[in-house]
Amino acid sequence: MSVHNEIKRVTTHTLQELKRKGEKIACLTSYDYSMAKIVDAAGVELILVGDSASNVMAGYETTLPITLDNMIYHAQAVVKGVKRALVVVDLPFGSYQGNSEEALRSAIRIMKESGGHAVKLEGGIEIKESIERILSAGIPVMGHLGLTPQSIYKFGTYAVRAKEDEEAEQLMANAKMLDEVGCFGMVLEKIPAILAKKVTESVNIPTIGIGAGNGCDGQILVVHDMLGINNDFSPRFLRRYADLHAIMTEAVINYTKDVKSSDFPSTKESY
Ligand code: KIV
Repeated sequence: MSVHNEIKRVTTHTLQELKRKGEKIACLTSYDYSMAKIVDAAGVELILVGDSASNVMAGYETTLPITLDNMIYHAQAVVKGVKRALVVVDLPFGSYQGNSEEALRSAIRIMKESGGHAVKLEGGIEIKESIERILSAGIPVMGHLGLTPQSIYKFGTYAVRAKEDEEAEQLMANAKMLDEVGCFGMVLEKIPAILAKKVTESVNIPTIGIGAGNGCDGQILVVHDMLGINNDFSPRFLRRYADLHAIMTEAVINYTKDVKSSDFPSTKESY
């Protein structure tokens, strides 16, 4: 293969450049090799190995139970399937909230053992020291503000965040802090579109929205939700691009029928 055919990898600098040019950034989650291969080849710039794996892969109600070992397992598989996109890995609940040393140790494990390119942490000023410590080790960090699912028991609900002035001002201050300390980007989850646009215009780094309107620099969705593999989650912000639940169910029904009727395997499908 000639040098010209080599795929140019997306880096944190690429994302910065896309923001500068006003070109939107497409992001999706992935948790395994086969899905990551499809998502990467289709052209998204960023793949998040999200702790939403706790919900869509492991079947838990919240993101809290997933462990650092689990996240590393998912990230290892995703990295093997990705040739172009930037792979960001979530630090799971309990792997960074203790102190900055614990946060750094967890981030180093992710980078060393999975081959991911960056980590994401939920929170603002309360985790500033941890973010700075991880950054000081040369590990790119993505922030996550607004609805932060690891704090679901504090919020008590998955409703839209920062609708009131006080929380909106706090979110803006946290966004500026993430920018100033050197994060390469931030997720803005489930906040009013007008606030997300204001944040996007106030920071130098890309904002990636989920349920945060069209004023962000990019968008992210959970891949199982947008492909319709999940058919029991329909928030207003979700656009379904396929109904894989129906397609997969029909395929399995047909397979079962064919096995039971001895139609499968045929002579042509046998040795
Ligand atoms: O874990 C996840 O999938 C996320 C996205 C929803 C941004 O954090």
